[in-house]
Amino acid sequence: MGIVFNFCENYDFLSNRAADIVGELLKAKPDCVLGLPTGSTPIGMYKKLIEKNKSGEIDFSKVTTFNLDEYYPIKKTSEQSYYKFMFDNLFDGININPDNINIPDGEAENAEIESLNYERKIDRAGGLDLMILGIGPNGHIGFNEPGKFLLPHTHVADLTEDTIKANARFFDSESEVPKTALTMGMGSIIAKSKKILLLVSGESKKAAFDKFYGEAKITADNPSTFLYLHGDVIVLSDIS
Ligand code: F6R
Repeated sequence: MGIVFNFCENYDFLSNRAADIVGELLKAKPDCVLGLPTGSTPIGMYKKLIEKNKSGEIDFSKVTTFNLDEYYPIKKTSEQSYYKFMFDNLFDGININPDNINIPDGEAENAEIESLNYERKIDRAGGLDLMILGIGPNGHIGFNEPGKFLLPHTHVADLTEDTIKANARFFDSESEVPKTALTMGMGSIIAKSKKILLLVSGESKKAAFDKFYGEAKITADNPSTFLYLHGDVIVLSDIS
């Protein structure tokens, strides 16, 4: 199978297509395990999933979710926490059981222990049936940032200057962006996801996407290229 590229006319089309893929999985496997991203890109898909759930087309009551990442340290109640983002943009709108929601704990006392526990929780759930991902303008996946090497497991990551700049739009100032985060590693993403859905939207992603799609050289300079090592990836892109 490898990687299948689907070029979408626009963001709305991409969001619909992504929500349909998730919806079909929920219908086929009501107790499936989803890996979820935050960011601007999945918001359209989350809106459509809420609509589908409200209309009775899909049911989240048996679904388990694992978020890809979270700033560290950060309070759950903070406006910028991924915890709050997920409740505002998805969980408060669907009939998911709160006990089945997993997000790396930005309030954990010990980030290394939290990382280890998170990885174990994913294993105990039997891995992820579908991992949904976005891509950073620098090619990052989660907070797996470009560099000399990548870490395989869930870990504490240092944000690069590029990512701090890109995420400053959600904070009052650049200096308020946390400098570290908890993130699933590229190894966990690849080994623990049965299927991956990568959403690529907006011109700011063009350079990273060109390297991913055009050059297609697997390199830690562009962590997204490691997805070529997975056997079942669908890419939805609204840039060509
Ligand atoms: C989000 C995440 C990030 C984003 C990426 C794209 O949980 O891990 O890697 O997927 O930064 O963000 P947007 O969609 O805001 O362009």
